Amino acid sequence: MKIIHVKDAAEGGKVAFSILKEAMEQGIQVLGLATGTTPVTLYEEITKSDLDFSDKIAINLDEYIGLPATHPASYHQFMEKHLFAKKPFKKTYLPDGLGGDNEPKRYDAILKEHPIDLQILGIGVNGHIGFNEPGAPFGGKTSKVTLADSTIEANARFFKEEADVPRYAFSLGIKNVMHAKQIVLMAYGEEKAAALDAMMNGPVTEDLPASVLQLHPNVIVITDQPVDER
Ligand code: GLP
Repeated sequence: MKIIHVKDAAEGGKVAFSILKEAMEQGIQVLGLATGTTPVTLYEEITKSDLDFSDKIAINLDEYIGLPATHPASYHQFMEKHLFAKKPFKKTYLPDGLGGDNEPKRYDAILKEHPIDLQILGIGVNGHIGFNEPGAPFGGKTSKVTLADSTIEANARFFKEEADVPRYAFSLGIKNVMHAKQIVLMAYGEEKAAALDAMMNGPVTEDLPASVLQLHPNVIVITDQPVDER
């Protein structure tokens, strides 16, 4: 893993943007995108820029089960608001929160047709990536997942109250994430420091999903935390 230390999320967004820009100059076509507070500064840099995404494909990591694409707390709306409404892509994909049993299969077929060149990731306080919570199998593809209590608590800020947070989501699996040619993981704030340290320096274990990234050949970590590989 390559680690880039930045002073804050604003600088991190700029650094991530320059990595993305360089990758685009080299011809990448398919971006894997994430939601949450972490990638927002990157999306701001993208929307401010004159980079053209009109021939690029965006594939998001996850969506809450039970929320229609029009729900204000859905990841569809999040992406619309922070990126897609301002920066047109050739095609954007997110799992359909109302998709039913066949949704994982449908999404895996999309991923097969459009292999991800550059995957943007955040990390949960419990080390989750996408919505792959502790215990998610490293061999897993897109599936229906149960959200951890800590994730429900952390994401309650996007809803009126904690009880409104869906308990399930569709998420790319660890195997899908590992398939991306390049991964840029961003993590800002003290509450992420322990998960980052475990991701880089702990055992590679399904108990800490992000630790699998130790096995990926092309990962860049951007963080404002004084965490390093030991
Ligand atoms: C969410 C998302 C993840 C995200 C993580 C951290 O639950 N499913 O993709 O990386 O949790 O979120 P945040 O960036 O808001 O801290």
